[in-house]
Amino acid sequence: MKIPPVKGTRDLYPELLAPIRRIFDVWRDVSIRHGFEEYDGPTLEYLDLYREKSGEELVGQLYRLTDSGGRELALRPEMTPTLARMVAARINALPKPIKWFCIPTLFRGENVQRGRLREFFQWNVDVIGSADVVADAEVILVGVEALRELGLTSADFAVHISNRRLMAAMLNAAGIPEDRHGVAYALMDKFGKLDPVEFDRHWDTAFGSHLLSAQLRDMMSSSDLDAVESLPGGRNSKELREAAAETRRLMELLANFGITEFCRIDFRVVRGLAYYTGPVFEFYDRSEKERAICGGGRYDDLLGKMGKSREPAVGFGMGDVVLSLLLEEKGLLQTGRKQQVVFVLDAEESLRPTLLRVVAGLRRRGVPTEFAYSWQAIGKQLKLADKKGVSAVIMLGADSTNPQLVRIKRMAGGQEREVALDELLADPRRVLEQDW
Ligand code: HAM
Repeated sequence: MKIPPVKGTRDLYPELLAPIRRIFDVWRDVSIRHGFEEYDGPTLEYLDLYREKSGEELVGQLYRLTDSGGRELALRPEMTPTLARMVAARINALPKPIKWFCIPTLFRGENVQRGRLREFFQWNVDVIGSADVVADAEVILVGVEALRELGLTSADFAVHISNRRLMAAMLNAAGIPEDRHGVAYALMDKFGKLDPVEFDRHWDTAFGSHLLSAQLRDMMSSSDLDAVESLPGGRNSKELREAAAETRRLMELLANFGITEFCRIDFRVVRGLAYYTGPVFEFYDRSEKERAICGGGRYDDLLGKMGKSREPAVGFGMGDVVLSLLLEEKGLLQTGRKQQVVFVLDAEESLRPTLLRVVAGLRRRGVPTEFAYSWQAIGKQLKLADKKGVSAVIMLGADSTNPQLVRIKRMAGGQEREVALDELLADPRRVLEQDW
């Protein structure tokens, strides 16, 4: 019986994993360069960790299981609750700000579609312990730098920035009670996805007595902070003025970091997750054809819910799936640096013990080395080496009068050279890489 892979998962054959590995390398390098340390956590968590913290949409997509002790568990659908749990447990011992990153595998029982799988990788970059909006700017910078390093430019993607505090202030100013804000965000999150007439109907039925859909739509489609301040009640709202000032400051800091060309205000960004409290952002390809490449924001209340003290925090998650689609479209999806592999071959079967010694010796000295498991005629071994695309072959026993000599042939230019075996083993990199 043939058993296929589970829907929404991937069989990552080497040629499919190679470009993803390159993305991981860039994510890791860029994180470290910006002062972030790598951490990891469990794939399995108690279901309760997500019940309150992640919001309804994600909870509906959880892969749930019950262990033999009857405990309700879930495969992690996101990293943020695990991070908050881990940091809260050691909050007093960790020097702040805590700057951590990780690249976990996540699981979500979503409708499988372009850019959406059920198992995917997601780079997480978070700063905990700083309420300063410079931390928000820094995480955005990290995300932008990674995409730049992968070859994308400001013509390819943009960071769309909004602010939950600003939205809350705006809803408050319009007289929408706080316990209804969750419903309002969920609807606002559908702006642009729902047909406009339908959006208006839903909004006006729920909130039209406070704020007309037409006004909300004007606000959401503008990128003008002044326009938000002039909404009903806006001028008198200290909360709204403060949130607008915070957003202006964030844009200023992004300008100081030199990435203004990548960043724009966009009030259509609401974020589906429940825990955001301040600036929020999403990275999109310029055509906005694909789903978000990355999403994140400030979540100042989550740590407090996990531990004793409230700790401000900000971060993002960037998945590999949408990013790979975009890189592929731009011709930037590379299989990574090709390894320079050498192939050792033996002219006679009696040289097998020497060949195995040479192979192990080269590898021990850092040279990626291949060989044929069983002895074959030299022509066949050469063919195998060719198929593997090696950069050079090293032939043992090429000179029957001097068993100490080996012949090295470079595949690209075809140059050949004979060297003493001991000299090769003493410093193989020098011998293989020097000019002949
Ligand atoms: P999120 O918006 O749920 O945020 O996911 C962030 C990114 O992960 C998305 O923009 C997308 O690239 C990728 N992603 C999400 N779901 C899928 C899927 N089913 N298939 C492929 N890619 C997907 C979070 O997860 C937050 N925890 C991020 C965060 C970290 N906020 C603060 N710190």
